[in-house]
Amino acid sequence: MSNTLQDNGSRPKPEPIGKIELRLMNSRAREWLLKYWDFPLFQHMAGRHGISLDGRRILDAGCGSGYSLTLINERFRPGELTAFDIVPSQVEIAKSRDVPATVFVADITALELPCDTFDAVFVSGVLHHCPGWRAGLAEVARVLKEGGLLFIEEPGTVHLKFERVLTGHSSSLEAGFSVPALQREMERNGLSVLDSHRLYFGLFRSFLCVKGATLQARQYHKARHLFRAPKSGALASGQESSA
Ligand SMILES: C[S@@+](CC[C@H](N)C(=O)[O-])C[C@H]1O[C@@H](n2cnc3c(N)ncnc32)[C@H](O)[C@@H]1O
Repeated sequence: MSNTLQDNGSRPKPEPIGKIELRLMNSRAREWLLKYWDFPLFQHMAGRHGISLDGRRILDAGCGSGYSLTLINERFRPGELTAFDIVPSQVEIAKSRDVPATVFVADITALELPCDTFDAVFVSGVLHHCPGWRAGLAEVARVLKEGGLLFIEEPGTVHLKFERVLTGHSSSLEAGFSVPALQREMERNGLSVLDSHRLYFGLFRSFLCVKGATLQARQYHKARHLFRAPKSGALASGQESSA
């Protein structure tokens, strides 16, 4: 990714994702990690809170090459699956997978999707690529239904600093991205944390959030049969455990 000045003296807009990371994201190794680490953790969090997304409307925001669509389909059995990424070549790969889903090019910071549309949104490693990550989170909150669920996973500062050493820059660090800043933005956007885990040896953090106050959301979901009886009675807000 070039960071040198253009002829007119302005800095070029950074690519949403670097070439090396793009290759890593499209590798078998990434698929393996998603299959055996990230998604089992998402599913564990859902199970711990008695959440079922069977037949529901799910969005995968920043789906990359779309392997996550296969996993969402297998593990959460949505009724309707929608996905987007900002990189058109990634969207083409995602579309070519044998998964019933609507996939298109879009920018998470400016979605042309109506408010209150999805029962659940997955955001896996996307916001830390966006200088406008705050707007991205606000958009995700906007398109979630009241009581809808956000499954999100992002790296912490140690990982981002390491990336900056490798690539020479980090647009998210420059834009004030960190896990505590993300948590503050979640709160500001009315997203209550139901559960949180560390993963990748503490370099990443995943959260399960609900749009609206926890108690309200529980009542809402009960009414819509999205929450089954919780296995551990663990619907108190802000619980954390280490994966
Ligand atoms: C680290 S990859 C993760 C891909 C996939 N979610 C996964 O877990 O394998 C980050 C993805 O976010 C996408 N992305 C970056 N900025 C974006 C934006 N503003 N809007 C939508 N997608 C974006 C990138 O193109 C890339 O596919």
